Amino acid sequence: MNQHNSSDGHNMKVAVFCRGILSVALFSTSTTMIAAEDRAGIEFFESHIRPLLVRRCFECHSSKAKTIEGGLRLDSSAGWRRGGDSGPAIVPGKPAESRLLKAVLYQDPNLAMPPDNALSKREIDLFRKWIKMGAPDPRTVEQKVGPRVIDFEIGRQFWSFRAIADPKPPPVKNTNSPPSNRLQGRS
Ligand code: HEC
Repeated sequence: MNQHNSSDGHNMKVAVFCRGILSVALFSTSTTMIAAEDRAGIEFFESHIRPLLVRRCFECHSSKAKTIEGGLRLDSSAGWRRGGDSGPAIVPGKPAESRLLKAVLYQDPNLAMPPDNALSKREIDLFRKWIKMGAPDPRTVEQKVGPRVIDFEIGRQFWSFRAIADPKPPPVKNTNSPPSNRLQGRS
């Protein structure tokens, strides 16, 4: 009987151990898959979308433009997320709902981009595919960092930069009070 119990216990431990290994393995497989998907998305952006934006849109929708047309910047992911005068330019995963795709499709006479020279079908398909992928875009940095100003006068007032002085302790009124009170000038 004893023998039987201990072997049950052993089987149980083996089962728990195996389940542990299995879940670790599954977890790492799924994270590797996500990472690979991310990499593929960024690669797609770098090889197809970035050059397209630079060549066909930056003239009017980036920091290089004299005026940012339609209030829309396409030189950072924050730019198209925030969008232009009429809201976000892209709804990730939804090409049909994305103003950017509608614009390059030249279907709406009021919004046909680029204005003078339509994209080729192949270029439009690249935009559509990219948006469908969730519009992966690594250009997350859009920081306007001003020059850091250091105020030396304020800095010099920090206690450890002040000259050593010999401050007078407050006068003691009650010599029986605890020393801490006397130091704080309370008695
Ligand atoms: C020569 C300048 C020019 C170029 C190049 C250009 N655009 Fe525009 N874009 C404009 C102007 C001007 C507007 C403002 C709306 C209008 O007058 O049609 C605009 C507006 C937009 C809008 C709507 C913004 C909003 O919220 O109202 C989108 C989307 C857009 N452009 C996408 C693009 C894309 C994508 C490209 C590149 C494939 C591109 N544009 C290239 C001039 C340009």
